[in-house]
Amino acid sequence: MDRLPFVTDLSARNPDWWRQAVVYQVYPRSFADADGDGLGDLRGVTGRLSHLAALGVDALWLSPFYPSELADGGYDVEDHRDVDPRLGTLADFDALAAEAHRLGLKVIVDLVPNHTSHRHPWFQEALAAGPGSAARARYVFREGRGPHGELPPSDWQSVFGGSAWERVPDGQWYLHLFARQQPDLDWSHEEVREDFRTTLRFWSDRGVDGFRVDVAHALTKDLTEPLRDLGAPAPSGEEALAGLPPGTHPFYDRDEVHEIYRDWRRVLDSYSPPRTAVAEAWVPGARRALYARPDELNQAFNFEYLQAPWDADAIRRVITDSLATARAVGASATWVLSNHDVVRHPSRLMLPPGTDENAWLLSGGTAPAVDEARGLRRARAATLLMLALPGSSYVYQGEELGLPEVAGLPVDVLRDPLWEQTGRTRKGRDGCRVPLPWTAAGPSYGFGAGGAWLPQPEWFARYAVEAQDGVAGSTLELYRTALRLRRKLFDGEEPTWLPDTPPGVLAFARSGGRRCVTNLSATPVPLPPGEVLLSSTPLPDGTGPNPLPPDTTVWLA
Ligand code: NOJ
Repeated sequence: MDRLPFVTDLSARNPDWWRQAVVYQVYPRSFADADGDGLGDLRGVTGRLSHLAALGVDALWLSPFYPSELADGGYDVEDHRDVDPRLGTLADFDALAAEAHRLGLKVIVDLVPNHTSHRHPWFQEALAAGPGSAARARYVFREGRGPHGELPPSDWQSVFGGSAWERVPDGQWYLHLFARQQPDLDWSHEEVREDFRTTLRFWSDRGVDGFRVDVAHALTKDLTEPLRDLGAPAPSGEEALAGLPPGTHPFYDRDEVHEIYRDWRRVLDSYSPPRTAVAEAWVPGARRALYARPDELNQAFNFEYLQAPWDADAIRRVITDSLATARAVGASATWVLSNHDVVRHPSRLMLPPGTDENAWLLSGGTAPAVDEARGLRRARAATLLMLALPGSSYVYQGEELGLPEVAGLPVDVLRDPLWEQTGRTRKGRDGCRVPLPWTAAGPSYGFGAGGAWLPQPEWFARYAVEAQDGVAGSTLELYRTALRLRRKLFDGEEPTWLPDTPPGVLAFARSGGRRCVTNLSATPVPLPPGEVLLSSTPLPDGTGPNPLPPDTTVWLA
């Protein structure tokens, strides 16, 4: 059996700290608002870092806090090397990083290399300079098709709906794989490459420990003329790769993209300890692992666990495959259940397989109705299962509170560009981005002294940190206990699946005879013998053989 390096030494100098880390994702504008303007900010994050330290995570990943008009929640970056004035200053960032490090937390920042904001000085220069200019060469400008160039240069679709091309007043078109406010950069341009090396150095010099790389699989494009149509309506997300020979899609997961990450690795390795990175690449298994090779980024998010249905066989397959693909490139596996782009998992795990999540959101979360208590049970079971696995877990702010999706947001408050760009047909991702409840009462449940940029439902009070802190059995206390025990209990040896488990049950052993058993079935099953170290739901009292209830994970010694 292969052994993965297991890391208990998280000291600042340990180059391998990321291999078994738990990383907490902070979505800054929804985490905590220090200045009371309704938008979360960096001083808000700094003021709440003790929550992360008490939770027991190893690192925080900050989603973008750079200057941005927030056309796509900050992923439309106007300056990659500054802080949005509404969120703070560079001095605030330095104070945040210093306090995080003092508390023993690593800091990961988001890097958005595929596109800039349309308000970035480069794009403004490109618009002013006109067709054929050097300034336009940093982006992807093309003439249109049709007698007067009135048709887009290709049929490529934006991930947010509609054509991926937008026409400018002089008649040329520019490519935007996401919102029209996010023009794609041309990564064959040396100036683009050099600018991102500068950005990597800028944040590394300020002491950041790693980078999360946005849409890591889309940077290089086949722009050979004539551009290759994909056949409308072509899928625009990860499903675009299904059935295609690897490396042949015109803009996703092309082989050349790896040169960029090998180049970055040289920059990242010039620091001591080397800076780490994690690719956001919605690419299937073995291809995704290539981004995590030791001479590239180190890690790639594994979204297959997140996408798996609540089904023992499916999850077992995902775990086995994920460990194997990570091992094959010398990386450690990663696990994610929620982030700022998906329906929060207590809700998602209750949706019957095949549910159209958008239709569910449009129904305000009523069709189908979701059993909230059962969703929370499943979420807690999924978390304990995740935390018993080797590798890194990425935890999204609010999941330690068991927060469900805010599916009932009225459409007039929506800020996700998906809503407008799809002609108001896709409700988007705002329901997982509602500002966090810290207190059970108060203007914005303790988020800040003022309001919150998205309305918080009344039921947030029940999930507030204050309502759970110190309360035995609360989800917050479960996360705290699990994170503390995880370090002590589970070492780097890969899990061994236990034989003869009942249908619908996942059971594996790690070293020292510690076991993790999850009952995903609808009926109780016998609890295996041994000492129960932690259970995701309270176990029934009583003498005689105890059952393991449905939707429950236990850790056993
Ligand atoms: C992935 C990010 O997670 C998402 O929020 C964003 O909209 C797109 N990349 C575009 O940057």
